[in-house]
Amino acid sequence: MDSDCERILITEEQIRSRVKEIAEAINRDYQGKNPLVVGILKGAILFFSDIIRHLSMPIDLDFMVVSSYGSGTVSSGKLKIKKDLDNDVKGRDVLIVEDIIDSGFTLSNLKALLVERGAASIKIATLLNKSSRRVYDIAPDYNCFYIENEFVVGYGLDYREYYRNLPYIGILKASVYEGDEE
Ligand code: IMP
Ligand code: MG
Repeated sequence: MDSDCERILITEEQIRSRVKEIAEAINRDYQGKNPLVVGILKGAILFFSDIIRHLSMPIDLDFMVVSSYGSGTVSSGKLKIKKDLDNDVKGRDVLIVEDIIDSGFTLSNLKALLVERGAASIKIATLLNKSSRRVYDIAPDYNCFYIENEFVVGYGLDYREYYRNLPYIGILKASVYEGDEE
């Protein structure tokens, strides 16, 4: 698995210290509050579990599994909810924890949905931000790392469901994609 990576983009140590910094910012902003922290599965699992252990306020945890129809940056379809929240978001301060914002399709739709359901506030914490790829108008409130337009795997992120368990974020070798359609 390691040998499928061309290079490590963000090391375990870099992730560890940045996640802690972001958690401290969240602690300052949510002091005295009881946010509902929503992890977007599966990509956010490692980021989610690492960040919440640094949070100092009482939190409720919840998860969603979503997927977008359509391909590439032209998202003709709607956001498909494969697993919805167990909690009612009405009146809650919601903090969405996501692995990466690419086109912004997923989070712009998700945010609109939670607004519609009556959340008191909605903020987004993302591990990675590919800002040059943005199509939909959405910006994270907390961002760990900006990255270039490169496909990355590891620390929760997958390529065809593999590599999520790598402890670092790496760039896949082109040979891994060879013969693939996408
Ligand atoms: P968006 O809806 O276009 O912002 O896409 C966000 C989703 O695309 C993420 O939750 C990831 O599942 C996936 N994604 C985008 N870029 C990458 C990448 O470089 N590696 C792995 N998954 C990615
Ligand atoms: Mg994802």
